[in-house]
Amino acid sequence: MDELSQSFRVLGDSTRLRILRLVAEAPLNVTELVSLVGVAQSSVSHHLGKLRGLGLIREERQAGFSYYSLALESADSRWPLIRLAREAEDAAGDSARLKDLLRAREDRQALNERLLEPGQSWFLWAGALASLLPPLDVADFGCGSGPLSVATARWARHVWAIDQNAEALTQARERAQREGRANITFLLEDLHRLSLSDGSMDLVVISQSLHHVESPASVLSEAARILKPGGRVVVLELMPHDERWVLERLGHRHLGFAPEFLESALSEAGFTSFSRETHARDGASPFRVFLLTGVKP
Ligand SMILES: C[S@@+](CC[C@H](N)C(=O)[O-])C[C@H]1O[C@@H](n2cnc3c(N)ncnc32)[C@H](O)[C@@H]1O
Repeated sequence: MDELSQSFRVLGDSTRLRILRLVAEAPLNVTELVSLVGVAQSSVSHHLGKLRGLGLIREERQAGFSYYSLALESADSRWPLIRLAREAEDAAGDSARLKDLLRAREDRQALNERLLEPGQSWFLWAGALASLLPPLDVADFGCGSGPLSVATARWARHVWAIDQNAEALTQARERAQREGRANITFLLEDLHRLSLSDGSMDLVVISQSLHHVESPASVLSEAARILKPGGRVVVLELMPHDERWVLERLGHRHLGFAPEFLESALSEAGFTSFSRETHARDGASPFRVFLLTGVKP
């Protein structure tokens, strides 16, 4: 009886009730709780101490952080309090914020796993593994200021860097010069109508350019046309998003693509053997990218 009345007293505070409801959904640390509940860290720690004192929550250490989670079992006579806390109105929008936080946490974990710590050794690994490829002829569709063309020229036999923007091509040329890459040809052309011959390339890379073009389907047909049989296309694109400002400010024509849509466009263009990988969200960015590859039979 004593424990029950004490619990009623402690949960008579709405912030404490919100904290209990949050940790009942997922283990959370103090910093996460501060961002969710919007009160000072000292106050969150005080509330956590009270809840822990009553055995409602427990503290566990993981990777140097203390995580708080529900300790109460459903057989406990105080369990109805948890049910009531869960059913209470969520006027502060805690549950939506918690969902966002858990998604960001998952994305961060996925990103960390990709980054092969320490530092950015993944970048060196990418270069080292690419240098094992046979000498390839590569077309970079919509090369912009040329970061990918120049990186590719380290291991390719020859790169054709293509863009319809003369200023971007000048920057790409200067970048190639700075890095001493002489195996790049710069083409000021429209990706819908290329001058490159049929069956002349081993690889076409299209990095974030398709969302700029009028007809992604005809650009992919051009990729299929200029590739040799057995040649490959690699597309890096944005997932569908709602950031409409990019239409006017950045000249995008498409608000990202559903990977299935681009895969069927590649199939229509004659590609087969697809692989697809969606990448983790990068911090607070609203954009998320995916990679799609296909082979010309
Ligand atoms: C976002 S940038 C991508 C730059 C580069 N591929 C990268 O990943 O850093 C898109 C580029 O596509 C070019 N582009 C858009 N439509 C094009 C078209 N129809 N023909 C040729 N280039 C085009 C733009 O000029 C721009 O430089």
